[in-house]
Amino acid sequence: MACTSANKEAAMDNVSREVTIKARHNGPYLVTGPIRLIDADGSEYYLQEGVNVALCRCGHSATKPFCDGTHKTGGFEAPERCLCMLDARPREETV
Ligand code: FES
Repeated sequence: MACTSANKEAAMDNVSREVTIKARHNGPYLVTGPIRLIDADGSEYYLQEGVNVALCRCGHSATKPFCDGTHKTGGFEAPERCLCMLDARPREETV
């Protein structure tokens, strides 16, 4: 996932589009762009619309914030449901 000016422009053109985050069963968060991700060092990654990236939620990846598959051998277990931290009612359409 190279951070090029071309994919930055494409991501920024789509900033109003919806981002999807899916919690994988005992695995990472699968994020579908367009997004701009900034790591702890300030490095920016631009993900174009429809492109996926897996973000570590087990804490064991050597490539954080990205998942490197270590969760599979580390015995990571996590609920994949939203647990009342959010108002989980279906979203109403806005015009
Ligand atoms: S969730 Fe895959 S390595 Fe952490």
